[in-house]
Amino acid sequence: MTSPNPVPPATGKLGVLTPGMGAVATTFYAGVLAARKGYAQPFGSLTQMGHIRLGKRTDDRNPRINEFVPLAGLEDLEFGGWDAFSDDAYTAAMKAGVLDARHLEGIGEELRAIVPMKAVFSPKWVKNLPGVDHVKDEGTHMDHAEALMEDIDRFRSEKQVDRLVAVWCGSTEAYEDPAPVHMDLDTFEAGLKDNDPRITPSQVYAYALLKMGVPFANGAPNLTVDIPAMEQLAIQQGVPIAGKDFKTGQTLMKTIVAPGLRARMLGINGWFSTNILGNRDGEVLDDPESFRSKEVSKLGVLETILQPDLHPDLYGDLHHVVRINYYPPKGDDKEGWDHIDIFGWLGYKMQIKIDFLCKDSILAAPIVLDLALFMDLAARAGKSGIQEWLSFYFKSPHTAAGLNPEHDLFVQASKLHNNLRHMMGEELITHLGTEYYEEP
Ligand SMILES: NC(=O)c1ccc[n+]([C@@H]2O[C@H](COP(=O)([O-])OP(=O)(O)OC[C@H]3O[C@@H](n4cnc5c(N)ncnc54)[C@H](O)[C@@H]3O)[C@@H](O)[C@H]2O)c1
Repeated sequence: MTSPNPVPPATGKLGVLTPGMGAVATTFYAGVLAARKGYAQPFGSLTQMGHIRLGKRTDDRNPRINEFVPLAGLEDLEFGGWDAFSDDAYTAAMKAGVLDARHLEGIGEELRAIVPMKAVFSPKWVKNLPGVDHVKDEGTHMDHAEALMEDIDRFRSEKQVDRLVAVWCGSTEAYEDPAPVHMDLDTFEAGLKDNDPRITPSQVYAYALLKMGVPFANGAPNLTVDIPAMEQLAIQQGVPIAGKDFKTGQTLMKTIVAPGLRARMLGINGWFSTNILGNRDGEVLDDPESFRSKEVSKLGVLETILQPDLHPDLYGDLHHVVRINYYPPKGDDKEGWDHIDIFGWLGYKMQIKIDFLCKDSILAAPIVLDLALFMDLAARAGKSGIQEWLSFYFKSPHTAAGLNPEHDLFVQASKLHNNLRHMMGEELITHLGTEYYEEP
């Protein structure tokens, strides 16, 4: 198979912009800087650690992903962002308390140089964030979008970057359903000018970034690029979009375990999930409206994987409950408990309990890196609009309207690998396996 359009190489510098410079974003910057200096390894990142099989199992061709597809190198990244607090990335990382001083000290100078630009922020959409002090002046949504575009231009010329990508690492905004203003680009643009109250800050960022031709991935569960207006803008501007909500702790476990139980036709009648966390994200999610965004994003996963309509006896009576409890002593060390009631042969009951003592931002940081590099790759490969092949990274993958997302982590992984093979003109791998048994 040959690729119709060879992907251009990743020459020059890639600017990675994060609206939101809290725990996740600063752990991401710090990890890349530490890896660059050889202080630590970028574990958890597919682009840095992963290999991809090409051809038959007997061909023994397993290049590293970053040698197979032309990705920007860690040394070519420049970081920037916006935040509603004025702390530089070093101060924000110290406050977030994710990384030890031993990791931060050696890269302190580089982190201190990453200073946030003023945020487009409204307490209406993020309530539990007291003391916010670094926000753009009053104005319409359109004024704010234009101010963001100026920021992007300034960043581009000051840092001399050749390309840009953006990954939303800001707080989770209050839940909202799509409204008429989100339904097409013209109406949305009129809404920006008229200050429509249904337009959120994250949507203003997405608009500005897409207008500037910058690919946008959404790491939080809020409604941002998953509205028709943004989908149209992404196609019009020829830029990739992806989302939403990084798949890290408990949902990662869920999308590993549930496909296995379903593959073996084991029944499930209860899945109780609770999270205890104490970071700023936990504080924001303590507000019921922000929690609602997270809850909706977390709940969809099981139903899509288990397909109770096809298997009513196995999954038709499933009680799925998700709780998030803000508990400050835990800091960023989240505890995700899952109590799963399953049944097997003749209906005999069994239980599975998972207690995942994870570190939220340690799991999220490599996702930010991979998304930045793959979104940049997608842009160079001429892809625009929704990038479903990046579902692997999201709790609530963005798909075309009416299309069920794919949640099974292993299907998502093969989809991602096959997309890379396709981009590079390699044979897709079907796992049929008959070729090893055919007569010579
Ligand atoms: N860590 C994980 O495992 C994980 C998983 C999935 C999703 N997420 C999401 O990623 C996001 C970031 O998580 P975090 O732990 O870094 O949270 P955090 O609270 O440490 O950082 C978020 C930052 O965003 C800033 N912010 C809020 N609104 C903003 C705006 N309008 N413009 C610019 N900055 C703004 C806040 O001031 C804060 O510094 C959250 O929405 C979280 O729900 C995190």
